[in-house]
Amino acid sequence: MKQVRLGIVGLGNIGKFHTNYLLEGKISRCELTAVSDAFTPNLEPFKARGIATFEKCEDMIRSGKIDAIVVATPHFLHTTLGIDALQNGLHTMIEKPISAHKADAEKLCAVAREHPKQVFAGMFQMRVEPRYLKIRKLIEEELGKLVRVNWIITDWFRTEAYYASGGWRATWKGEGGGVLLNQCLHQLDMLQWLCGMPARVRGFCQLGQFHDIEVEDNVTCYLEWPNGATGVFISSTGEAPGSNRLELCGTRGKVVLENNRLTFTRNDADMLEFSRTVKSGFAKPEVWNVEIPFDNASNAHASLMQNFVDAILDGSPLTAPGYEGMGSVELANVLLYSSLINQSIDLPMDGKAWESKLNELIAASRHEKKVATVQTEDFTKSFRR
Ligand SMILES: NC(=O)c1ccc[n+]([C@@H]2O[C@H](COP(=O)([O-])OP(=O)(O)OC[C@H]3O[C@@H](n4cnc5c(N)ncnc54)[C@H](O)[C@@H]3O)[C@@H](O)[C@H]2O)c1
Repeated sequence: MKQVRLGIVGLGNIGKFHTNYLLEGKISRCELTAVSDAFTPNLEPFKARGIATFEKCEDMIRSGKIDAIVVATPHFLHTTLGIDALQNGLHTMIEKPISAHKADAEKLCAVAREHPKQVFAGMFQMRVEPRYLKIRKLIEEELGKLVRVNWIITDWFRTEAYYASGGWRATWKGEGGGVLLNQCLHQLDMLQWLCGMPARVRGFCQLGQFHDIEVEDNVTCYLEWPNGATGVFISSTGEAPGSNRLELCGTRGKVVLENNRLTFTRNDADMLEFSRTVKSGFAKPEVWNVEIPFDNASNAHASLMQNFVDAILDGSPLTAPGYEGMGSVELANVLLYSSLINQSIDLPMDGKAWESKLNELIAASRHEKKVATVQTEDFTKSFRR
């Protein structure tokens, strides 16, 4: 194969965004040959350009017109469409979250494992942002033993109009969770990509605190890692102006990313070693203040899409293998589950237990979802974090 024939299912906010850069020729050795959406007016502009269109994704998968697919529908369809695509020989990229809950993600990953020759990827575009690559390098090379992680990511402000813009949004049945599973899933992916999975968590989630929704829109979570490091993860869609501050403390210093600035305060000596050996009771290690410059990825989604295409054609390594999408789904589920049952939970969590709880929430839901058409907006404003 010299060129990947790509199909996209789901032509909403993100699906359309992917089609735009694909049609502008931003991805080399890849052609958008087919699209699918259950809402037929979304297909018209593509039909006019001679691209094959399908109301039913199952038909696109079996059409012989694509080698690879991007699944960009609401979350609950990610598992079923992803499995169908993999079983029909397609290279498959799944939008985040890879599934609505862990038990579904396990099913999807199990099918992917049965098809090792097909590329299975997740759209976790923050992994190509230079700022996070630099933080990863600092953790690996400079920070020493991780001691504490704080992430306050409350600048995910969303209005009632946002929640009304899709019947599936912010419902147990349509989405399976709220701010954890949707808006800050990227930060949860980043958290586990940088620091590994925690061993134990306790979530405190408020449901519909600031919006007329049934799922969580305000969360404060405590995390503990296997090495004893602790952390706090705070997020909200009901805070304005909101903050985005990531702070990682290690025995060799502190990294802070905030307001588009990355700083490293480097301890001249390892804090634990210093504490053990210095005779003074109030001394502190000398520090160096380091300002770390970084560029912004010009189009992080497109970079990850190119990586997917290169993995298909050249066998090059994936930046975001689909399997690694499990970590963020598990964190989104377990933090919410912990809050709902009022208990700390050890990881790995029992995915089936959460699935049962979620099914109870779906069955008991009495919330009347208000749906309204909103004007077309530039949702890409929400990308850079
Ligand atoms: N990576 C990112 O930065 C990013 C950004 C936004 C959304 N997302 C993810 O992408 C997914 C879609 O989000 P969105 O905001 O674009 O949603 P959306 O509601 O704007 O679009 C979903 C689209 O899927 C279509 N659809 C629904 N059921 C379908 C079916 N059975 N077959 C074909 N099409 C179907 C709908 O008609 C709609 O056009 C979500 O899982 C979300 O988490 C990722």
